[in-house]
Amino acid sequence: MRLWQNPASPFARKVRIVARETGLLPRIEEIAVMVSPVSPNADLAAHNPLVKIPALQMDDGKVIYDSTVICEYLDTLHTGVQVIPSDATRWEALRLQALCNGILEAAVLCRYEGFVRPEAYRWDGWVKGQFAKIRNGLDALASEAPAWGARFGIGQIGAACVLGYLDYRFANENWRSRAALASWYETVKDRASVVATMPA
Ligand code: BEZ
Repeated sequence: MRLWQNPASPFARKVRIVARETGLLPRIEEIAVMVSPVSPNADLAAHNPLVKIPALQMDDGKVIYDSTVICEYLDTLHTGVQVIPSDATRWEALRLQALCNGILEAAVLCRYEGFVRPEAYRWDGWVKGQFAKIRNGLDALASEAPAWGARFGIGQIGAACVLGYLDYRFANENWRSRAALASWYETVKDRASVVATMPA
């Protein structure tokens, strides 16, 4: 399989952590591509009309996206502990994944707003609205984290990607003021899959 990704992308990181947690990494070639909404990558565009990462080419040549679909697919390819449970806890896991995806979407939009959009076109009120989503989402994660125990499923993988991305791109955002979230992150930050995919 071939995975189009970028080491800075938290959505690609989610897939890369799942690939490592499930033992599937040896079957996946990770292809690093530069992505920008204003200068799309031609190779990726030929395989994903949205020109977004992550995208995965399966062994039959077909390409699937986005991170949620790819993680679900990878979880069908191994016999270890499911990352996405199929029992009654499934909906809670998928809801937590959606919460983390929403925080990440807001954070990536803020990154583009501050880095890609010309200064004259920036809109402070819009950025504040995105940061409200990020902070409300972090509050929700902090209230839920004490119940996670040792579980490292799709929701917790998403949370690790959220916190890693904030450290990487928004180091001034003091998310560690939420003590429950900070102490949970200490329990996962040294996992091999998390260390190997840390954005540098
Ligand atoms: C980033 O550089 O922050 C980034 C790169 C790719 C996708 C999303 C974010």
